[in-house]
Amino acid sequence: METMHTETQEYINGMAPGPLTREIPECMRNKYTLIQSIFDLTVTLLTAIGYLIQGIYRSLFRRTKKDLKGQIALITGGGGGLGSLIALRLARLGCVVVLWDINKQGLEDTVKLVKGIGGKCFGYVVDLAAREDIYRVADQVKREVGCVSLLVNNAGVVSGQLLLDTPDHLIQRTFDVNIIAHFWTVKAFIPDMIESNNGHIVTIASMAGHVGVPKLVDYCASKSAACGFHEALKVELESKGVDGVHTSLICPYFIRATGMFEEVQSRIVPQLNSNDVADRVVYAIRTNENVAVIPSYLRILLPFKWIVPWASVSEIIRSMVTDAMPGSPVPQADRKMQADVPKINGKVESRPMTLIPPARHDRHV
Ligand SMILES: NC(=O)c1ccc[n+]([C@@H]2O[C@H](COP(=O)([O-])OP(=O)(O)OC[C@H]3O[C@@H](n4cnc5c(N)ncnc54)[C@H](O)[C@@H]3O)[C@@H](O)[C@H]2O)c1
Repeated sequence: METMHTETQEYINGMAPGPLTREIPECMRNKYTLIQSIFDLTVTLLTAIGYLIQGIYRSLFRRTKKDLKGQIALITGGGGGLGSLIALRLARLGCVVVLWDINKQGLEDTVKLVKGIGGKCFGYVVDLAAREDIYRVADQVKREVGCVSLLVNNAGVVSGQLLLDTPDHLIQRTFDVNIIAHFWTVKAFIPDMIESNNGHIVTIASMAGHVGVPKLVDYCASKSAACGFHEALKVELESKGVDGVHTSLICPYFIRATGMFEEVQSRIVPQLNSNDVADRVVYAIRTNENVAVIPSYLRILLPFKWIVPWASVSEIIRSMVTDAMPGSPVPQADRKMQADVPKINGKVESRPMTLIPPARHDRHV
C-alpha cells in the first residue's frame, strides 16, 4: 500500500495547516483571519441593515409599478386555472401573451378570452414534462412572436395520494412539471433577457413549498425545490451584476375554483379567491417583489416553524389541512370500505392529473 505523505497525514490529523491557510503569510495567519472576519461581518451587517431599512420604507410607502406595455409574457399552464387569470390581466396591461399548455381545448378557450378583451395572444401545445418539446417550442416562439421578457412558470400538477400509494410515474411527473421544466424554460429564455438586461422570471410555487402536508409529499418536495430554484437563481443573477432581470417567487395557500385543490378540506385559513391571487401575482411582477406569500400574514408565521417544538407545528398543520385530497384513494387497510373508488384490472385507479380545467372557472378580471 502506498504510504501517505507526512504533511498530508499531519493536515488530516489537525497538526499542520491546510493548503488554503498556507497561502496566508505565517506572521499574519491568526491576526489576518480574525481582523478580516470582523471587517467582513461588519460590512455585511451594515449593508444588510441598509437593505432592511430600504425594504421597510418600500413596503410602507406605495411602490412604483413598472409598465408592462409591449412586453412579451409567456405563461406556462396558461390554458386554465390561475394561468388563464394572469394571462387576462397581463393582456389588459398591454403585454403580448404567449400561453403554453398541454390541454389544447383549455388553451384555445383562453386564447379566445384574451383576444375577446382586445389582447394579443398566442397559444402553443407543449408537454412541460418533455425537455425536447420545451426547447423546440421555445425556438418556435422566438421565431414567430419574439424575445420573451416575462416568463411565468405557473404550470403544476398534483398526484394527491399517500406516498406509498403514489405510482412512481406520477411522482416523476410531479417533479418534471413542477420544477424540472423551470430549468429548461429559464435556460431557453433567460439568455435574451440577460443580453438586453430586461426580464422577469416568476416562479409560482406554493405554501406547500414551506410546509409539509399529508398526501402531498411529492408535491411539497417539488414546490420546496421551486423555492430553492428561485432563491439560487436570484443570487446567481445578482452575483453576476445582472440588475435588469428580476425574479419573483409566489407562494399561495389553497386557491378556490382552479382545477387543482377543488375539494381540499381546509380550516382556520380560508381558501383564496383565484382572482385575488392573480391580482397579487401581477402586483408582485409590477413591483419586482422578491417573495409574495399569499395571504401575507402567513409570512410572519413561517419562521415560528423553526422555533416552536415540532409537535405544535404538526398539530397546526393537521388542524389547518384536514384532508388535502379527499377524493384520492385511501391506504391499503381502508380500501375495502371504498366501494366507489374506480378500479382498473382490480387495482385502484390513480386520481387523474389536473389536465382539464374545471367547468366552473371564474375568469373575471
Ligand atoms: N390551486 C391551488 O390551491 C394552488 C395553491 C398554491 C399553488 N398553486 C400553484 O399554482 C399553479 C397553478 O395552479 P392552478 O390552481 O391554476 O392549477 P390548474 O390545474 O387549474 O392549472 C394548471 C395548468 O397546468 C397545465 N399543465 C399540467 N401539466 C402540464 C404539462 N405537462 N404541460 C403543460 N401544461 C401542463 C394544466 O393543463 C393546467 O392548465 C400551479 O403551479 C400550482 O401548483 C395552486
